[in-house]
Amino acid sequence: MTSSSASALIADRPPKPLPGSGIESWTLSEEITFLNHGSFGGRPRAVAEAQQRLKETLDSDPFVSIWLHSEEQLLAARTAVASFVGADPGDLVNVVNATDAINAVARSLSLDKGQSVVTTGHGYNAVTQTLRHVANRAGAELRVIDLHPPLPDEAGLVEAFAKAIDDTTAFVMVDHVSSPTAMLFPVEEIVRMCRSRGVPVMVDGAHAPGMFDLDVEAIGADFYTGNLHKWVSAPTGAAFLHVSPEHQSSIHPTIISHYYSEGFQPEFRWLGTRDTTAFLAAPMAIDWFRTNFSWEAVQSHNRQLVSWATGVLCDAWQVEPLDVPESSAACSMRTIALPGSLQATFNEVEDWRDWLRRDHRLDVAVHDWAGQWWVRLSAHIYNRPEDYQRLIDVGLSFDSR
Ligand SMILES: Cc1ncc(COP(=O)(O)O)c(C=O)c1O
Repeated sequence: MTSSSASALIADRPPKPLPGSGIESWTLSEEITFLNHGSFGGRPRAVAEAQQRLKETLDSDPFVSIWLHSEEQLLAARTAVASFVGADPGDLVNVVNATDAINAVARSLSLDKGQSVVTTGHGYNAVTQTLRHVANRAGAELRVIDLHPPLPDEAGLVEAFAKAIDDTTAFVMVDHVSSPTAMLFPVEEIVRMCRSRGVPVMVDGAHAPGMFDLDVEAIGADFYTGNLHKWVSAPTGAAFLHVSPEHQSSIHPTIISHYYSEGFQPEFRWLGTRDTTAFLAAPMAIDWFRTNFSWEAVQSHNRQLVSWATGVLCDAWQVEPLDVPESSAACSMRTIALPGSLQATFNEVEDWRDWLRRDHRLDVAVHDWAGQWWVRLSAHIYNRPEDYQRLIDVGLSFDSR
């Protein structure tokens, strides 16, 4: 195995399951071995039921709930979420998902012809497409830093951004934890460097809330978004956008409604009639983990389980994990190269994933990235060592004749 995988990124043994953490407490089907929390999350039953109760209250008197009470209810939820992610509630608004937040920011930029937008080849496709759209519209350049393996260390990542930025750069987008590669970017240092050069920077923290302790204010980005439906396991459609005070008057939601130009908070609060119960239930998800297990125990369990699973899978399949910097050990996802033999049988890596789902009821994320096929393991508290053993046992058992 590679140098970093031998150290902090591989654990010798799996963690002990947390009492009460079994899949029966989740709405996830017990028929599927689910190793894919990172894509769309999953919901504890208690959280799904709390959202259902909120929906019933809302539907019992829609005018009062939707029109009269939504402001105070959303303020209470924003305050709880802000405290969890280390932000002032006045600088944070609820959005439906990270894509929504990134579109709001990117489409509010006033980009000019000849300017550039900088991101990396580790970005989530929908995000890169959004940047492509705003750059194309303005006649600006989208500059994608490839960062293919062998990957640099943390200092090298900062250096790569520093080199890509020049006098034309009007906006930088950096992942906190990247989607195809499960790599933790040194966002504090990248933000500091960008700001020292006067370039606004947004952190795509879709995976960060709940995966590890988050302090949005300490990161100090101009813009930060995080999903709550991934690692916080809030209902689908719960996310936040944090905007530093100096930009708040120039950032508008993608949907313009009643409160246009009346301020950051009012503009984002009302985007037409819609269901806000996912965000309203997010504090319940935060509390469910806190009171039943403690966030520290959850995060440490998930980190250790994915590290152990990576080691056993790589040994069994004789493959290598992506050699990410050691700080990525804070993540509860890991990306591993798939054996080249798969390509003799499957046209696309998604065909292998479909075969796993169809023939073995096993769900895991896959990526075709940097000219290679990868599998991305996730670990949450309902996962057990046997789940990864199933993947190891069946994953290469396809008939290649
Ligand atoms: C890094 C990253 N950014 C953004 C997103 C988009 O999240 P959503 O579909 O909730 O908008 C994802 C989704 O997986 C992601 O991994």
